[in-house]
Amino acid sequence: MEKLINGYTKILGIIGDPIEHSLSPGIHNTLCKYLNLNYVYIPFKVSSEQLENAVKGLKALGVMGFNVTIPHKKNIIQYLDEVSKEALLMGAVNTIGAGGAARGITVSLALEGVQSITILNRTAQKAKAICTMINENVKNISRSDSLNYENFNRYIEDCDILINTTSIGMHPDIHACPIENLTSLKSSTVVCDLIYNPSKTAFLANAEKKGCKIINGWGMLVFQAINAFEIWMDIKINDNLTNILLQKTNS
Ligand code: ATR
Repeated sequence: MEKLINGYTKILGIIGDPIEHSLSPGIHNTLCKYLNLNYVYIPFKVSSEQLENAVKGLKALGVMGFNVTIPHKKNIIQYLDEVSKEALLMGAVNTIGAGGAARGITVSLALEGVQSITILNRTAQKAKAICTMINENVKNISRSDSLNYENFNRYIEDCDILINTTSIGMHPDIHACPIENLTSLKSSTVVCDLIYNPSKTAFLANAEKKGCKIINGWGMLVFQAINAFEIWMDIKINDNLTNILLQKTNS
């Protein structure tokens, strides 16, 4: 029989606005179910004006851990310093910062030993700042430029992996595309989009038409959820359960 919420049930959650389309509750509640943990993961819709009160409330109610999503990724930091001293379990804040996802991915790729990294961004100086950080702290392998049609098609000519880290094309704006015309894209380039809703963005659909292998953001969402869960519960999620989550469709 399905386990019911009772007096021992502990609470996990996610705060954001909008929050209705979040797939995190599905992933975390599946983990709780498979691992037979008496926890429930709840989406909380929290406006920017209520962020401070919400964090206090989560703490007062003994919420064991929570994820943070748009639009609170940056503003949450000021409230977390105070909270994090007392609540180690709240350590799993999602990637933060201007181009936070791009920064995280760039660091990982540089540490993995890729040959070169090019970052194109609407605000060129933000891309430059990430490159400086990589070149000075990891290896001198990155360069940056502004995001426009000419630059894009010039740089992708000899690119093996192309990743969209912007939110362009995300539900509900599903027809939007960071670059409309992928003229110089080769079929051997693997094209990724961090967006998972829709499961195939206009950008990925265009790349697929060019014959490229495409990967959406579902895997990153699942692994980020697993990381948070492992921190909260101090356990290791096995490959079998990871694969079950990865195979769940997000359409
Ligand atoms: P995340 O934490 O998900 O990485 P973010 O830190 O807000 O989110 O980064 C969003 C990225 O998408 C930024 O690189 C942003 O470009 P700017 O640095 O110029 O702001 C990019 N982005 C968002 N909307 C965009 C748009 N309409 N056109 C071009 N780039 C856009």
